[in-house]
This record gives sequence, C-alpha cells and structure tokens, in this order.
Amino acid sequence: MKMLIENIGLLAGIVPEGVLRKEGVEMAETGTLENAWLLVEDGRIADFGEMGKMPDQVGHDEVIDAEGGMVMPAFCDSHTHIVYAGSREGEFLDKIRGLSYEEIAARGGGILNSSDLLHRTSEEDLYAQSMARVREMMAHGTGAMEIKSGYGLNPEDELKMLRVIARIKESVPAIVRSTYLGAHAVGRGYSHDEYVQTVIDTTPEAARYADFIDVFCDEGFFTPEDTARILEAGAAAGLRPKIHANELAVSGGVEVGVRYDALSVDHLERTTPAQIDVLKGSATMPTMLPGSSFFLGIPFGNARGFIDAGLPLALASDYNPGSSPSGDMRFVMALGCIRMRLTPVEAFNAVTLNSAYAMGISDIAGSITRGKQAKLLLTEPGWNLTRLAYHYRTPWLRQVIL
Ligand code: NIG
Ligand code: FE
Repeated sequence: MKMLIENIGLLAGIVPEGVLRKEGVEMAETGTLENAWLLVEDGRIADFGEMGKMPDQVGHDEVIDAEGGMVMPAFCDSHTHIVYAGSREGEFLDKIRGLSYEEIAARGGGILNSSDLLHRTSEEDLYAQSMARVREMMAHGTGAMEIKSGYGLNPEDELKMLRVIARIKESVPAIVRSTYLGAHAVGRGYSHDEYVQTVIDTTPEAARYADFIDVFCDEGFFTPEDTARILEAGAAAGLRPKIHANELAVSGGVEVGVRYDALSVDHLERTTPAQIDVLKGSATMPTMLPGSSFFLGIPFGNARGFIDAGLPLALASDYNPGSSPSGDMRFVMALGCIRMRLTPVEAFNAVTLNSAYAMGISDIAGSITRGKQAKLLLTEPGWNLTRLAYHYRTPWLRQVIL
C-alpha cells in the first residue's frame, strides 16, 4: 500500500537516520523542506523531496493533496497516567479554594482517591474510560504515548491496570509503551515498608506486561533508598527506569535515576545546578511536564538552563486526573515557549524526537526519516512551527495519519 502526500507547503522535522535525540544547541534546529511530497509505503516513510523534483516512477495507490498544509511527525507523549477511573472534579474545587496538591493528598484525596475509584471499577469499564482519553489524544495529534500504572496500589489492581494498557496497545494505531508505577503512593492498608516490599515482589509479574518501571521519588512519597531497591528489582526483571523526581522538592530522584541508567527523569520543576552536572554525559533524558506546572501553579522547570548547559530536553503532558487533566501536546509545546522560553523549534524537538527517545522509540518514531513509522500530522494550509505555538488555540489539524 503506497500513499503519496503532495503539495506540502512545509515538511518539518526532517532528521537524518541514526540521530536518536537532540541536545543543547542541536535542539534549535530541525530539517525542513518547502513545497514537498512524501511517500508512505506499508506504514513507513519511504521517501520525500521537493515537488519540482518528484521522480516519475513514484507509483501510489492513494494521493492526499496537502494544499499547502504543513506535514510534521505526530507528537510523542512520553509520560501519561491516562488509565484511571472517574474523575477528581471535587478536588478541582478544593484547589480553587486554595488547597495545595500536598494538602489534598494528605486529606486522603489525590492518588488514593483515584485508587479507591479504580478498585471499584471493572476491567472492562476501565478500558472503555481509558480508550476515550486515548482517542482524544490521537485526535489532538499524539501518535505515540507512554502509559503508567499507579492507581492500583495493590498487586491485583496494578496488574489490572497493566492488562488494560496492554489491551490499548493492541487496539490503537498509535505506538504505546507501558510503565509499572506500583510505587506511586503507599496503598491503603499497608505500612510504608510493607508496601515497598509488595511493589518489589510484584515486579516480575508486572514485567510480563510493562516495558519500564517508575517510582514517585519525592517528598512524602518514596525516598531515594526505596527507589534504589525498587529499581534493582526492575533491573532483575529487565525493566529500565523512568523516574518521577523533583516535583514537590529536590528529591534525590535525578541522582538515583541516572545511577540506574534511567531512560528519563521526569517533572524537574525544582532543580539545582548539581542535577545538571549529574545529567551531563548520561543517557537519561530530562523530561519536563509544563501542564502540571500550569495546573498546580508550581514553578516551571529550568528548561532554558538545561538546554544552555548542553543537555537534551523532552516535554510530555503528564495527562492525569490530579495534576494535569489534559493530553494536548500542542498546548504543552506552547507552554514550553510561553512559560519556559524555548524557541518553537526547541519545543517541537522536545515533543517529538526527544519525547520518543524518552520512551525508547526514537529509532522508529518522532521525526521525518526514511524507514520510520509514518505517524504524521497534516495541518490546514499556511501553518509553520512558530505559528503552532503562537496561535495555540486556533484550529489547525486537517488529518492525523497513524
Ligand atoms: O505526575 N506526581 C505524581 N503523579 C502524577 C499525579 C498523579 C495524580 O495526582 O493522580 C504526576 O503529577
Ligand atoms: Fe506523572
């Protein structure tokens, strides 16, 4: 099956084969081609070039006339919690009245509230509710996503979540990766230490479904020592870490993450220069989640400082019911520009190639590269990357090609 897209006004996000992430000054660049065509063959990007130089032999079964629209890689969202039950609208009102995320959690709300709801929800219903969010994300241009467990908080319900994620993986055209986040909060009825041991004991079973392991290593949740023990169990089961660190306090999560070769350390709303030094030269992708800074009213991460120090950076949505109830990656990109002073191209690289890297798929997604999976967005005529972040609410998407 061959699909030709012609009359592309701007083909954006062209990256040479073998480039798996961008760091420092590289983040300010991406390949573009004006007035272009692109050929998809059997779901992969087969070739592309300038309209004037299209080879005669480009055969095809289907043609899309882009009519001057932009074609770019679909967004990659490397950090979400979209498998959950119900909603936390009541806590939204508490938040408006002035309670902080920590205060809501301390009253038994927050993650434990979602865990109680999930416990009462059947696997089938959980799948249906979650699929509605997956469809919403795809409709907004997300072509690859990571999804975490972490609202089960006992072995049975954590495995229920992981089975739902596995089923989503099978049912959608987007690329899905799965993360075991048993250590999201201490489950009801356990002491802290009992629960850490339970998370560890469940890891081999969880690894049947999960690609990665995560720990909420932060003040009031899990310590760097708990995290190290859990990551040891993950490593024994073949799970590479992705860590929640430095959302509520400078937690030690960056250090323990890098020590265990984490694929990413995420949140980083609070960091010191020491964390930049730790990340330098590592294979770990620093990932910031501006949607949670926006929603919780906490600081935005020091994205400028990270990139200016030569580090790579990914941005993701953190879509979840408590700290970021949106999976709109275009809004994430706009927040990166407006609130973190990234240039539109830096923010674009952060929500495509680098976010793909942060879930281990930048060899197959995240850029316009021959051989990669054709997860593509086609915009209305006249759009470019700057306009995408600037006119951040104007309708722009014509077609999501997954
Ligand atoms: O990434 N920080 C921990 N976990 C989520 C919030 C989960 C929730 O409140 O339901 C986050 O912000
Ligand atoms: Fe998160």
